[in-house]
Amino acid sequence: MPADADLPTPSAAGQGSADPALPSEEPLGRHLLPDTAQVDGRGRLSVGGVDLVDLAEEVGTPLFVYDVAHLRARCREAMDAFGGHVAYATKAFLCKAMARISLEAGMSLDVSSAGELATAVAAGATGERLVLHGNNKSDEELAEALRLGVARIVVDSFEEIGRLGRLLGSGAGGGRSPQEVMVRVTPGVEAHTHEFVMTGGEDSKFGFSLASGAADRAAAELARIPGVVLAGVHAHIGSQIFRLDAFEQEVAVLAPFVARHRLGELCVGGGLGVAYLNGERAPTISEWAAHLLAAARAAGLPEGVRLTAEPGRSIVAAAGLTCYRVGTIKELPGIRTYVAVDGGMSDNPRPVLYGSGYEAFLPRATTARRPLEARVVGKHCESGDVVVADARLPGDLRVGDVLATPVTGAYGFSMASNYNRVPRPPVLFVEDGASTVVVRRETIEDLLRLEP
Ligand code: LLP
Repeated sequence: MPADADLPTPSAAGQGSADPALPSEEPLGRHLLPDTAQVDGRGRLSVGGVDLVDLAEEVGTPLFVYDVAHLRARCREAMDAFGGHVAYATKAFLCKAMARISLEAGMSLDVSSAGELATAVAAGATGERLVLHGNNKSDEELAEALRLGVARIVVDSFEEIGRLGRLLGSGAGGGRSPQEVMVRVTPGVEAHTHEFVMTGGEDSKFGFSLASGAADRAAAELARIPGVVLAGVHAHIGSQIFRLDAFEQEVAVLAPFVARHRLGELCVGGGLGVAYLNGERAPTISEWAAHLLAAARAAGLPEGVRLTAEPGRSIVAAAGLTCYRVGTIKELPGIRTYVAVDGGMSDNPRPVLYGSGYEAFLPRATTARRPLEARVVGKHCESGDVVVADARLPGDLRVGDVLATPVTGAYGFSMASNYNRVPRPPVLFVEDGASTVVVRRETIEDLLRLEP
């Protein structure tokens, strides 16, 4: 029996739930930890066979830790579930080591800037494994994609169609002839964690409206550009979505467009939600894919049409966690207790940007009950700098403790900033009892290097 058997486990994954129970004293849920997480007899947490308190001691805090086995397992799961037609959405978390893991699993990489593109290429991605996104791609980004012969350019505006025509007319490209493109459409389905609506999606900076006929006009304009072929349609209805029926709706809305233009691919984008809190349960990638494939059959999508997806968060979120060190504990009688850590909104802006909730725990006492109600805050110069607004922590919490937040593998490192000139944390991959620095800690010299 694994040593972590005493952690609560989810009862059933199923359709998912977005109604977290009110924070309670319960220990951290096992389902929020990476696949290889183990808790020893003393309650100490190891991931990938590496003790997290020791790791924090060795490399300092804050730090991002990723479970390599977990990353590989989610990439494989997605590839199996979608018959090999998956691009990893690199915006969720990208460095060369992550790109390599998804490439080794056979995935393509969805990139949406010159920086993401260059990172993917530096990790060994060739054109046929790349998909270029972006609602305002520069000439340089388009020219580079054409030169590399990327598998797909996901066209997002009439201006971009004009730019593509001019670039190809002036001899750019040649990497792939013809260059396959997709049109990004707004399907009129917009999903949030709790609900989806059928009209809201029209008000978007992304893509062409299906309902207004703009998407059909884009297809017609693309057909007039020599050297380009329209291969498919793409939509992305939102992120952190628990409701699988929203995706079914998306497939149903896109299917007639696929038939009308005799396309070979329908890409549903990303968006599958993950559990961040003890009380949350999310569908698995396999469940997501099964629903989508069933929806495609129900919508009469022809056999030969590929159903493809671009998951980001569901691949990486739960593989990662952040370790901080507690620097101050302020008890304000009758108000609350503030626990300040050595990072904050610069390494995880999600609580501030979206009001996102996280759990907090002590890797030295992973299975401990958490009776202490506290607000975990960062070291930045504003009151909004909250890491966990309503945290529960063990009663013996003390200054100097390593405090961790689980499920920070997506949109944490990738959205990190240097606010207050705070250097960004390193990224460590752990596997088979060893840790590897895949992104080193930023230094103050790194920050000053940009200035003459
Ligand atoms: N494909 C496209 C075109 C996208 O725009 C996105 C995410 C994805 C795929 C991947 O979606 P995912 O599977 O990760 O949900 N910063 C926000 C999330 C923004 C998502 C943007 N687009 C957050 O931290 O929640």
